Amino acid sequence: MTQPHLTVIDHPLVQHKLTIMRQKDVSTAGFRRLLREISLLLAYEVTRELELTTTRIETPLCEMDAPTLEGKKLALISILRAGNGLLDGILEMIPGARVGFVGLYRDPETLLPVEYYCKVPKELDARLTIVVDPMLATGNSSVAAIDMLKARGATNLRFLCLLAAPEGVERMRQAHPDVPIFTASLDERLDDHGYIVPGLGDAGDRMFGTK
Ligand code: URA
Repeated sequence: MTQPHLTVIDHPLVQHKLTIMRQKDVSTAGFRRLLREISLLLAYEVTRELELTTTRIETPLCEMDAPTLEGKKLALISILRAGNGLLDGILEMIPGARVGFVGLYRDPETLLPVEYYCKVPKELDARLTIVVDPMLATGNSSVAAIDMLKARGATNLRFLCLLAAPEGVERMRQAHPDVPIFTASLDERLDDHGYIVPGLGDAGDRMFGTK
């Protein structure tokens, strides 16, 4: 089945938890706990179409051909640093996943993302690769991260975020139309500083208690 380019995960539990997270007075601990809970639910949706095969097993009563995930263990790639907040919950659901990290900073003159770290699992060409970053804002870092992963062999990618701005979705659609995006909400717009509106503020600061 072909995935639509954008899937908004409108599960009532996801939406309820997201509403609490958006509120400015939620504590760091509360924000982190909600992000972990939401990421379990998002992991469920982003893996819904995974291919299954069968394996012969023996229950206490009989033998059967039972469903099991097909192919190599999938790869989860966190865009540092906020991606780690989504990564932790997803890893609880998919503990066998291979994990990679991509670090990018914004060049103060060109304003373009520059790679400072990239460590990813081997054989990306044979794995479903799920890139995680809570906020798809301008799309610059997501596009750059996916460029890096494709250069390292990834061909089957998905992008998972908590909130997306229309500008970021469009940028991704132009640069990587083959990468389906999963999000809990498509918000209204970006402000002049590149923040998602209404959004939830700086996801990294809120989850790590920095300012
Ligand atoms: N990154 C964030 O953490 N928040 C935004 O609103 C946009 C980018």
